[in-house]
Amino acid sequence: METVLLTGGMGYIGSHTAVELLKEGYEVIIADDLSNSSADVLDRIYAITGTKPRFYQVNAADKAQMEPIFKDYPISAVIHFAGFKAVGESVVKPLMYYRNNLDSALTVLELMAKYDVQRFIFSSSATVYGEKNTPPMTEEMPTGGITNPYGWTKYMIEEILKDAAKADQELSVVLLRYFNPIGADESGLIGEKPNGIPNNLMPYIAQVAAGIRDHLNVFGNDYPTPDGTGIRDYIHVTDLARGHVAALRYSRTHAGAEAINLGTGHGVSVLELVHAFEKASGITIPYVIAPRRAGDIPEMYADVSKAERLLHWHAEKSIEDCCRDSWNFQKHAADELRVMRSK
Ligand code: UFG
Repeated sequence: METVLLTGGMGYIGSHTAVELLKEGYEVIIADDLSNSSADVLDRIYAITGTKPRFYQVNAADKAQMEPIFKDYPISAVIHFAGFKAVGESVVKPLMYYRNNLDSALTVLELMAKYDVQRFIFSSSATVYGEKNTPPMTEEMPTGGITNPYGWTKYMIEEILKDAAKADQELSVVLLRYFNPIGADESGLIGEKPNGIPNNLMPYIAQVAAGIRDHLNVFGNDYPTPDGTGIRDYIHVTDLARGHVAALRYSRTHAGAEAINLGTGHGVSVLELVHAFEKASGITIPYVIAPRRAGDIPEMYADVSKAERLLHWHAEKSIEDCCRDSWNFQKHAADELRVMRSK
């Protein structure tokens, strides 16, 4: 079976992808510096799948730390999740974002060239479509016009990868443009664990439901959308993870760089998500209409036909599944905390 290296494999999307790969029988190696994740994710992956992936606590940008992994294992593909991802923080610390995100991608690519690894799957983002395109977003649309350094790092790494694939005919690169991942593994054992106050909508709603925050701020209800609130394409993280398995399979027989959207193709408004969550949890989410958040766009959703055509993949889970699993994870985390405190 193939051996796959996951940089950033302990994080939210990486850990779910590790689970789906292990279920499919892949050998998984995780390289993660735990800067935004914790070591217990490994035990949780084991609890779900019955297999513990090999884990290296290393920084993906550090060649000396990364090289032994390439030396010691017959890696057939890399899925590169490692990177900083907080939009707001990237505005305050742009150099840190450019240095970290670009460096880690370049380091991994150089090691791949040295050790003859030819398949690279990249965690890109719908953010590369910028402000000017009108949804549904298709992969042929021009990218750029992005409003924050985090998004520009995704854009720049895409460009680097396209050039690398042009120069090396053997290289197979898949640029997976994620829309808005939410939800959690059905087990409730892994999920999204933001540090401090969540930036993203779903973890914020889940924390309001859990009583950690007293209300949700809805950022703007005067957008040109049916209920005035922002529209996004929310995709269950397990569907997203399975999209990576499909991309890995595809990369085996493909050369060049190919951008592919991973979304559901459906737009859901902030208030629709709030109401779906209320239905799934049975808990009322108090909210307040607040001013628009700087840099937000009114509407974003994917055209998913390319993913269907090339990967034979599409999202299967509903928004209700997403809400149920996000809430299940949030409750699980609260229960664990209670048990820990009572010990
Ligand atoms: N929102 C609120 N209140 C909150 C948080 C969010 O009303 O407390 C709204 C936002 O205004 C937006 C929607 O909920 O309309 C979704 O916001 P998120 O922060 O959850 O997600 P974004 O679409 O802003 O950003 C996400 C990822 C980025 C990525 C981008 C790509 O977090 O990493 O999608 O489109 F770049």
